[in-house]
Amino acid sequence: MLKTPLSGLAKLLLCCSPWFLNVASAAETLSNPTIENRIDDLLAKMTLEEKIGQLNQYSSSYDLTGPKPEDGRELARYEDVVNGRVGSMLNVLGAEATLATQKLVVENSRLGIPLIFGYDVIHGYKTIFPVPLAEAASWDLEAIEKSARISATEAAAAGLHWTFAPMVDVSRDSRWGRIMEGAGEDPYLGSRIAVARVHGFQGGSLADVDSLAACAKHFAGYGFSEAGRDYNIADFSESTLHNIVLPPFKAATDAGVATFMNAFNEIGGEPATASHELQTVILKDHWGFDGFIVSDWGSIGELVPHGVAADENEAALVAFLAGNDMDMESSAYRHHLAKLVEQGRVPMERIDDATRRVLRIKFQLGIMDNPYLYSDVLREKQALLNEEHLAAARDIARKSIVLMKNEGALPLEKNTGSIAVIGPFAADKDSPLGSWRAQAEDNSAVSLLEGIQAAVGPGVEVLYAQGAALATGERNFTTELTLNDSDRSGFDAAVQAAGKADVVILAIGEDAYQSGEARSQVDVGFKGLQEELLQAVLKVNRNLVVVLMNGRPMTIAQADESAAAVVEAWQLGSQSGHAIADVLFGDYNPSGKLPVSFPRHVGQEPLYYNYKNTGRPTSPGGMVFWSHYTDSPNTPLYPFGHGLSYTTFGYSDPVLNTTELAMDGTLTVTFTLSNTGERAGTEIVQLYVRDLVGSNTRPVRELKGFERISLAAGESRVVNFELTSADLAFYSARRQWEAEPGDFELFVGGSSAATQSARFTLK
Ligand code: NOJ
Repeated sequence: MLKTPLSGLAKLLLCCSPWFLNVASAAETLSNPTIENRIDDLLAKMTLEEKIGQLNQYSSSYDLTGPKPEDGRELARYEDVVNGRVGSMLNVLGAEATLATQKLVVENSRLGIPLIFGYDVIHGYKTIFPVPLAEAASWDLEAIEKSARISATEAAAAGLHWTFAPMVDVSRDSRWGRIMEGAGEDPYLGSRIAVARVHGFQGGSLADVDSLAACAKHFAGYGFSEAGRDYNIADFSESTLHNIVLPPFKAATDAGVATFMNAFNEIGGEPATASHELQTVILKDHWGFDGFIVSDWGSIGELVPHGVAADENEAALVAFLAGNDMDMESSAYRHHLAKLVEQGRVPMERIDDATRRVLRIKFQLGIMDNPYLYSDVLREKQALLNEEHLAAARDIARKSIVLMKNEGALPLEKNTGSIAVIGPFAADKDSPLGSWRAQAEDNSAVSLLEGIQAAVGPGVEVLYAQGAALATGERNFTTELTLNDSDRSGFDAAVQAAGKADVVILAIGEDAYQSGEARSQVDVGFKGLQEELLQAVLKVNRNLVVVLMNGRPMTIAQADESAAAVVEAWQLGSQSGHAIADVLFGDYNPSGKLPVSFPRHVGQEPLYYNYKNTGRPTSPGGMVFWSHYTDSPNTPLYPFGHGLSYTTFGYSDPVLNTTELAMDGTLTVTFTLSNTGERAGTEIVQLYVRDLVGSNTRPVRELKGFERISLAAGESRVVNFELTSADLAFYSARRQWEAEPGDFELFVGGSSAATQSARFTLK
């Protein structure tokens, strides 16, 4: 089913990942003969300059729809746009602006090839959904797909064709601010979510007017930025690359993702943007990807400071020959590619290949036939923030909430006498929108306070006090945040409110601009005066529910110990307050599970459940000589997969259809899940496997399956998972994907700490 012949590695990657395959959508990216013929005709007409134009992407830095700029850089860019020396623009926003800009190009350039308009539609366009990490906590693939579908519908109506999403970077480090933008630490969960997001953005067909071309990013290894510092180097093994980093990208490819974005980071000395191995050998040749690769913003020019190119000319050469097709904002292709072709350093075939890839997506989107197809002012009005979209946002938001701890404080009665809602995020209508909020109005989310006020009965007193602001001064995407470390003037009011109330809801966590791009932190605890506020409130009221609002795993040990309940409410988007209230009052029984480990201490990072055993996993006779910290347990505070419900679930021990699995056989794992509590609820059952002995060391456990199961109180259901040797394959010491015969242990349960297990042998 792929265009290029497959290497042994690629064949194995395919066969080992049955859930990666979605034939219908993968087929869409296959070259369509009519389109290919039309590209042939067009290429024959295009000059070298026009071809290179298709590979050049500018951000909209001025009003293209207004008067022609008079001089300088903006005039030069304007001239490039109208003369067909630009193939794509990002950040041109709204149906009117995209329409006007497209007209400029189509009516003025010689061949009238339309632009493809791109934008970071990461978790919504106007209607904002939970940040991607939060959505991952729902483990609800249908809901995640729907969130991407709605985002695409809104963005496409505004004239956009292309989103720079999904980010499928696996990350194990909460210091890295962009961990909020992915699906967490696990390659299996991450792959399943990558597929759901690609399907959601791209819809049934790219040709549909409400579809966006998706973009799997950042290829590759960006989530492994050393010490969690954004844009830093990444340095990891070939085994980690293949077993952990690449699977979600492979899954996105097989789901038919139209484009890829490379990454800012280097891996082991080679910047990803300059990597021929990643972009050409693995992605294009082995995986058969026939869309195009865009650089990250300026990442071609950054090959110079990385120190693998002496100047921009060399940077263009290296990136282009490595396989990077489109240049986002470096202008390196614009300025140097033509000369490099004339000098014989860049073959014309490569220019044609890259141009073909870009044109192919434009044809698939339908804009070559109707460049104005997407920009529709009326449709834009109807699509944005409509009731149906907001209802879906509330639904996925409540599914994303994780009940971390509950000593009986929750759910609250709706006729609770008085509730004090306290904390920097209690009435905050902005932080729930998170980073990468696209076209959301600032301060447009339903705050927690508003959600609680809307949920309670008339006789309930809702008291509010902020206590202390978290940030002071400007808060935006581009500037550093200034934290409030000294203004305690609101403490008294908060303590008073807490003292009067039956229960305190304390909303603490992170500002929207504490996570996201360039928001790395060495300390992932509560900033500012938040812990102090918690202690002050606790002195007068111990019936304290902590509602966490954050984009990354945080160190919450002290708050966790003090609180009667802890609700992980992330940054949940437009409907945040309603969704949290749904959970607090039990209108929705929480079902989310953590897609990342929560550390006890930042010093444990990078922290992940699928770690290696090491040669010294336990203490020899009580002595210190084992792999551990002397000042903290190795274990996380809350493990990957953890999440409670207002009911309880019981698992029977897993039973296998055989203890000897043949290489071409199927192992069926069966167990009974019972709702042992008094409410209906949803459990996300999880299946983990440990490969006991391998040619290379193997993780202590790996997620291999999950399912969301809803049960009435007292109800039981028999659950089956099937495993084949393909599910047990990994990138082995022989540098290939293979399942190795030997003994395995599997675990079923409600988190990665599951203990109920069974053993089998792969023959
Ligand atoms: C840089 C980011 O790394 C990337 O993810 C994003 O798509 C581009 N900027 C465009 O905004």
